[in-house]
Amino acid sequence: MMLSDCHNFCDFRSLARRRVPRAIFDYIDGGADDEVSKRRNAAAIEDCDLVPNVLRGVREVDLSVTVMGQRLELPVYLSPTALQRVFHHEGEMATGSAAAKFGTMFGVSSIGTVSLERVRRAYPKPQCYQFYFHRDRGLNTAMMQSARQAGVEVMMLTVDSITGGNRERDKRSGFGIPFRPKILALPDFVRKPRWGINLLRHEKLSLPQLDQHVDLGGTTMSISRYFTEMLDPAMDWDDVAAMVRDRGGPFCLKGVMAPADAIRAAEIGCAGIILSNHSGRQLDGTRAPFDQLAEVVDAVGDRMDVMVDGGFTRGNHVIKALSLGAKAVALGSCSLFALAAAGQPGVERALGLMREERVRGMKLMGARRVSDLSRSNLRLRGGAFR
Ligand SMILES: Cc1cc2nc3c(=O)[nH]c(=O)nc-3n(C[C@H](O)[C@H](O)[C@H](O)COP(=O)(O)O)c2cc1C
Repeated sequence: MMLSDCHNFCDFRSLARRRVPRAIFDYIDGGADDEVSKRRNAAAIEDCDLVPNVLRGVREVDLSVTVMGQRLELPVYLSPTALQRVFHHEGEMATGSAAAKFGTMFGVSSIGTVSLERVRRAYPKPQCYQFYFHRDRGLNTAMMQSARQAGVEVMMLTVDSITGGNRERDKRSGFGIPFRPKILALPDFVRKPRWGINLLRHEKLSLPQLDQHVDLGGTTMSISRYFTEMLDPAMDWDDVAAMVRDRGGPFCLKGVMAPADAIRAAEIGCAGIILSNHSGRQLDGTRAPFDQLAEVVDAVGDRMDVMVDGGFTRGNHVIKALSLGAKAVALGSCSLFALAAAGQPGVERALGLMREERVRGMKLMGARRVSDLSRSNLRLRGGAFR
């Protein structure tokens, strides 16, 4: 199987499985507990049907949107995710480059493997910097400052991770940061020599956003321990309101699900929220973000931008979310499997295929631009949207 054989998410996922060791595939692919939310995220989107309009004369399609003050050529952006150089040695430089090529926003994670400044210098397209709220308040301030100095457009605080999700696949494989595979997992690494050689031949893995501030003591710290020991579970609305005031520019919350929380976010001056359950990697059993979308858009859609992620792998999935009032959709696993499968060409192919699907989908829906889509284009099987 080669990159040219990849026509959809499942193909990229299969190719990634062949290219990277099992522990790494499982880190990308896994959810928390029984992975119910992970499965439900995708099923929720499928349970909703499109109702197209015909004879609308759609010669050209304009997919551009403005999100938190940033004009994007596509209504999707690449969600911030951790450890991308572990998946493919090009890591964030590949995903950032692909995002820039497609004129969309790229999210850098505070547990990213390339520095915010380096990505920023290479790709001066809209960027968001995603961070967590650490017990060490100095670290939070320093992260805000670095982002400001680098000229990052949007600050994104992830609020669904005040403690680590129970990711049992990672427990079995010993996946952690810094990355040191368990001895037992070594045979699988030997079977994927290209991945290992590439990693060894390129610069050493590091966590530039954290290295200056955190001494991981040279020992392996599991992702779950990082969340549990370093992040501040006492974070509350007052803490966030102070950060929003301090930022003085677009600030959004990632991982909001309840309409009441969305209203609170609007009240403290957030420019947007991302409806997300972290790809089902945190609290298993949460409702799918797609299912919460209509309710949240109704609550705050006139005051702030509502984005959504979780389970979006096709152009028509994005069309459904936009029809419900989302301003844009964020992609996580979709771009990560493409990265793990084939680096930058992989991510570009995945984004290109999805763009084609969206253009084709918009034409078949009878919509020339995103604002032509509305809830009249959708029906939920078995009922209304709430
Ligand atoms: C491997 C992996 C690592 C992630 N790392 C982060 C992270 O560092 N910060 C964060 O806010 N979200 C992180 N996420 C969540 C994504 O940003 C996004 O919310 C989610 O992947 C969207 O769901 P999808 O994967 O079904 O598209 C991660 C997701 C995955 C799959």
